[in-house]
Amino acid sequence: MTRSNEPSPGRRWMAACGAAVLVLLWAMPVSRAQEAGTKVSLDYEFFKNNVQPIFLAKRDGHARCASCHMEGTPMRLQEMSPGATTWNEEQSRKNFALVSARVVPGNPKISKLLVHPLATEAGGDLYHSGGKHWTSQNDPDWQTLLAWVNGKTMATAASAAPAAGKVRIIQTNSAGDNVHLIDPANNKVVGVIEGIEVGHGAQGDPNGQWIYVSNEADSTVDFVDVRTLRVMVKVPLSGHPNNLGISKDGKKLYISVRSEPGGVDVVDTVNRRLLKTVRTNHGIHNTYVTPDGRYAVAGSTPVGRINVIDTATDELAWYLDVDLGIRPMAFDQNPDGSTRYIFAQLSEFNGFMIVDVATRKELRRVKYPDVPAARQVKVGGNVSHGLAVTPDSKILIANSRLNNKVYKYSLPDFKLLGEVEMTGGIDPNWVTLTPDGKTAYVAMSGSNWTSAIEIASMKEVARIPVGHVPKRNSTARLLQ
Ligand code: HEC
Repeated sequence: MTRSNEPSPGRRWMAACGAAVLVLLWAMPVSRAQEAGTKVSLDYEFFKNNVQPIFLAKRDGHARCASCHMEGTPMRLQEMSPGATTWNEEQSRKNFALVSARVVPGNPKISKLLVHPLATEAGGDLYHSGGKHWTSQNDPDWQTLLAWVNGKTMATAASAAPAAGKVRIIQTNSAGDNVHLIDPANNKVVGVIEGIEVGHGAQGDPNGQWIYVSNEADSTVDFVDVRTLRVMVKVPLSGHPNNLGISKDGKKLYISVRSEPGGVDVVDTVNRRLLKTVRTNHGIHNTYVTPDGRYAVAGSTPVGRINVIDTATDELAWYLDVDLGIRPMAFDQNPDGSTRYIFAQLSEFNGFMIVDVATRKELRRVKYPDVPAARQVKVGGNVSHGLAVTPDSKILIANSRLNNKVYKYSLPDFKLLGEVEMTGGIDPNWVTLTPDGKTAYVAMSGSNWTSAIEIASMKEVARIPVGHVPKRNSTARLLQ
């Protein structure tokens, strides 16, 4: 080395100093990540599915992040394709790279994405031209950003412990643009999901974090974040959807495709995409997953057929042709948990049919007691609509729209144990039960309320006003 290339003592000192400053600045995140014993990395799928929607969401009084950040700001997000409402795969990957550069994995406190839009008093930095969007670190959106920076992935998000979620009755409104959540502890509406037009069916995920709603207006399944009740993701379906079922582990949705040629769309809830369409003979109205999780059972309505899909392979396992269209269904269980009977309501039959799963044959049909014509309620559509079985498989609850009654039958011998006339309201159209099997929630489609019926006494104990023409409802445990 020649003398002229050697740095002067002064320059050497400055370089050492600079290095020290750098070490000081960056030592913190590295050591924290090391302390935790793991290297934190940022998950692209989690970013695409959970973080990006935050940039698009409207928060009261605020401009949306994307409104500014797709224009001339330093963190310039990709422009969307014409007509698109979100970013495509390629654009999302570019956004991921761009936004990743504004965070330090495992160290939220110095991650610009977290501190810039957070109120200074809540731990945010001094100023953001785009305003302070969150006044507290407890804000669910901010918590999502935090989870991403701390390395949460779609897989860890999906396998989160099914914590002590609160029981909720999810009530869709077939002529509305919203979905109601009822607390069965006090029979009050405790949340309303806005912006889902013609929601058909709804299911809560077993981890309590998401509500999935089949959206007839958009032919999508909408993923609603339970904490904010906002639609975060919409997965396009293969056709016009009706009701949906969810696998026991919550990883797959089975969505009825009503438009011809008909089928069942299988949607992966982790990666949020349509996996496949299981073809059926015709349009499907309702699809359920059996309580043991083994089958997804789908009813063809234009031409009666019960389609039984094996959830291990997502192939049609067997089917049963029936002379009438298949309407709502329910299932009871053998002592070992396997499915004993499929109960099905049929087009224009004022009762229900029983299918023995072991022999795959119809066992019999049960007709409701006749009601004098003067007391019948002729609202049109199918006469018998809404079935549910208590978790102990001892009682079947069945609605008759025509008789304006809800019936209680014993299982497995189908004895009529009780009934309640829905006087004052019209159209008992759907029913779901609380997990303890004590209360039935009956959607009264013609009266815009949901009735709570105590099953022991078969008495109506509450009427809960909901939206326009409530139909499908379901029971879930949600982390609310
Ligand atoms: C009204 C327009 C506007 C909105 C809305 C807005 N921002 Fe900004 N943002 C800016 C501008 C301008 C800058 C650059 C100046 C500054 O840092 O304040 C910026 C800077 C940032 C930066 C720092 C980028 C960098 O490279 O230093 C981050 C991170 C950021 N914004 C995130 C967000 C998030 C997240 C939201 C939504 C919650 C949001 N912004 C909403 C205008 C906006």
